[in-house]
Amino acid sequence: MKNRKIVQRSALLTLIAAVLTAGTAFILSGSASAGTTLGASAAERGRYFGTAVAASKLGDSVYVSILNREFNMVTAENEMKWDATEPSQNNFTYANGDRIANQARGNGSRIRGHALTWHNQQPTWAQNMSGSALRSAMVNHITNVATHYRGQIFSWDVVNEAFADGTGGGRRDSNLQRTGNDWIEVAFRTARAADPGAKLCYNDYNTDGVNPKSTAIFNMVQDFKNRGVPIDCVGFQSHLTNSVPGDYQANLQRFANLGVDVQITELDISGANQAAVYGTVTRACLAVARCNGITVWGIRDSDSWRTGQNPLLFDNSGNKKAAYNTTLSALNTGPTLSPSPPSSQSPSPSVSPSSPPPGGSCTTTLRDGTRWADRFNTEITVSGAANWTVVVALTPPQRFSSAWNATASVSGNLVTLRFNGNGNVFGITTLASGNFTRPQVRSCTAT
Ligand code: G3I
Repeated sequence: MKNRKIVQRSALLTLIAAVLTAGTAFILSGSASAGTTLGASAAERGRYFGTAVAASKLGDSVYVSILNREFNMVTAENEMKWDATEPSQNNFTYANGDRIANQARGNGSRIRGHALTWHNQQPTWAQNMSGSALRSAMVNHITNVATHYRGQIFSWDVVNEAFADGTGGGRRDSNLQRTGNDWIEVAFRTARAADPGAKLCYNDYNTDGVNPKSTAIFNMVQDFKNRGVPIDCVGFQSHLTNSVPGDYQANLQRFANLGVDVQITELDISGANQAAVYGTVTRACLAVARCNGITVWGIRDSDSWRTGQNPLLFDNSGNKKAAYNTTLSALNTGPTLSPSPPSSQSPSPSVSPSSPPPGGSCTTTLRDGTRWADRFNTEITVSGAANWTVVVALTPPQRFSSAWNATASVSGNLVTLRFNGNGNVFGITTLASGNFTRPQVRSCTAT
């Protein structure tokens, strides 16, 4: 019985992994079968359902049994933040973050990294810094932490809460902001270099509808996409009280239309309408193809940072609340997601059959990346060309899963990877089907 459950769970995780790494997805009408847990139901729809986890609670058997049963994405509530991971300058401590990461991996869950930079929860030594010293310390921090967790993180909150509340729609004042307006893009570029396989997110609160704050963030994301600053996703914390703005879904969709994924990252809802609002938020995410999933900010009401507001899905004893039922029911009646058709069916418009033959050749260096039970990463560095096309061959029965920092198209066992403005280090995730042979480079052409 236990084995059958493990097999079912692993099939679901494989499905969610395939869909989540496939890039663009579209919504199919109709729905999959009814899942009996949040994570399983979300996975059947190509999404995840996650929770914030506190390392100090991993010895609590009620907490851990709900965690393992219901969730397939985990965020460290505090343990991967700057004050936790670098308590004194250049002295990194990962024990509690690693406990959470190991627990998640053991349960087949993915991990959202939270958060590489934030004006809050900085160690005292960083709070007292400014200017170029702080900028260098930030870069060093991101490089170390993202490198430590390289290959383990589904998405990183690279920058948390950098925009001001109110009607102004500007940046929040902070020691990081005072190092120069470009600190956010420096943070994203640094994170990309350290962990090219993680989706890189901007994360904030009070961004749950179209308002001056969310629009200021929208403008930044649009600017980043236009200028090739590496950003992959936007997190909407969604700390809500009794209601959700009527344009919640439309707001998620306008960000998705910029070409980034969206994620509900810290959901908790207080008030008498709690159950209904959980259902509304869940349906909104499912209605947006690029909404990867939902994370609630804790398991039981007693685990919440919002003391006394009971904003979560389980009561203090670990019983399912009405809000749990509306959430699961919204998941179970939601549409399914399907990866977009193989890009070989829609060739890149930049290469037409009448294009002249490409110019000179370039060279590649391959490096093995993270390996999972079912798939593995390979990092490829191109030298000798600023703009390139690389063709790699997979070894059947391997299949292409996804690429980062390159645009991919697939034809048989050949994958063509084209420069996409994100530099000369790119990578490919290969579905192994039992064969972990590295992809072989067939050509590297300067274009
Ligand atoms: O661990 C110490 C404990 O040793 C000490 O005795 C106690 C005394 O105050 O403090 C404990 O640390 C607290 C920590 O949570 C762990 O419980 C901190 O004081 C407290 O400030 C900290 O609060 C966290 C808060 O971020 C800090 O801003 C919350 O747990 C955490 O849920 C919350 O999470 C944030 C997200 O990261 C970003 N978005 C908003 C969200 C809610 O504020």
